[in-house]
Amino acid sequence: MNIDYKALAQKYGTPLYIYDFDYIAHRYMTLKDAFAGKKSMINYAVKANSNLSVIAHLAKLGAGADCVSIGEVRRALIAGIDKYKIIFSGVGKRDEEIRESLEKDILMINLESEAEMKRVEMVARKLGKEARISIRVNPNIDPQTHPYISTGLHENKFGVEIELAKRMYIYAKKSEFLNPLGIHFHIGSQLTKLSPIQESATIVADLVRSLKAINIDIKFFDVGGGLGVVYSDEITIATQEYAQAIFQATKGLDVTILCEPGRYMVANAGAFFTKVLYEKNNGGKRFVIVDGGMNDLIRPSLYSAYHRIEAVDVEGEKTAADVVGPVCESGDFFGKDVPLPPLAHNDLIVVHSSGAYGFTMASNYNTRSKPAEVALEGGEDKLIRQRETYEDQVRLELAYLQK
Ligand code: LLP
Repeated sequence: MNIDYKALAQKYGTPLYIYDFDYIAHRYMTLKDAFAGKKSMINYAVKANSNLSVIAHLAKLGAGADCVSIGEVRRALIAGIDKYKIIFSGVGKRDEEIRESLEKDILMINLESEAEMKRVEMVARKLGKEARISIRVNPNIDPQTHPYISTGLHENKFGVEIELAKRMYIYAKKSEFLNPLGIHFHIGSQLTKLSPIQESATIVADLVRSLKAINIDIKFFDVGGGLGVVYSDEITIATQEYAQAIFQATKGLDVTILCEPGRYMVANAGAFFTKVLYEKNNGGKRFVIVDGGMNDLIRPSLYSAYHRIEAVDVEGEKTAADVVGPVCESGDFFGKDVPLPPLAHNDLIVVHSSGAYGFTMASNYNTRSKPAEVALEGGEDKLIRQRETYEDQVRLELAYLQK
């Protein structure tokens, strides 16, 4: 497809996120097909990109949702995800969030501690309702990814140890207000090695077998998210091999496989567009200053994440430049030593692979308004989030302003 990004940047302004909805559909179908041999459900991890139109697009394809706040649960429901396809996960949930998720009758609440189980039981008792639950097991496996996005080791705050999980299942089974239906693990994000996933799945499947022996029947086997994507030259996990590894681990178990991909679904569907304000040279170092900042896309600053950067339709000899934003922080950059041609005011720069954890991690730092978001589908472009304005930002403060 030949897309005129310059025209889109003109039409919608910059900074701007653009998402290719056809690519998202293709990713969903590829993963769904890989799991075709078994009962399965893909619960899109809403945190990766929670734009309502993105969720609605996936809902139409049949996806479920993995949510980590009641806000995300509400987004999933309003975007048309079936309530029985929604899981509510996360390491800390307020009582009100638990109550609302029970009232909304979603598929299950994913528990991350014994204390949380007791809270959920208490809230369920008050409502006179049974809470369907799953438990996040921490298999103590090193996922071999960035430490900030590694979650499957005992030193991380996530999930519970196998032995405790077992005791929790026994407790839940006896409780009038808890119904243990699922089991869950998620060892990290941007995973490019299959073996830690396979090992974890095997450990967790063994737990399912030992629970079965004591009459606790687990119906949903949730393998979490974490499938890595290509940002530069990573060799990623093939979806067929991924599914086969899970099938192998769960052999003989009558379970529905759930998985919760976020990044896999949307990262490479999205690109971030920003315009050049000007160039400058500091003691021989070349800087390209753009109108987008770390508040719009924080991954490079926060994780030293690499995103491929190009100038759109600009010719000329390339030399290394740091691409930086206007925010008052040295960490405000999109790329360092990026080969770029000479650039002029208003030239367009694209930061690739920005569809996941881009907009959702955006902030208003420096009173900068959040970018607009646009979807491309079947050659058509449509606005899916209006650009935020200064007025939007001050709305919650103005009424309290005392001069
Ligand atoms: N399920 C659970 C329980 C999770 O904690 C996460 C992500 C996912 C699923 C989705 O993971 P994915 O398929 O997207 O890897 N902000 C970071 C990523 C944080 C991931 C947190 N958990 C980044 O920009 O790289």
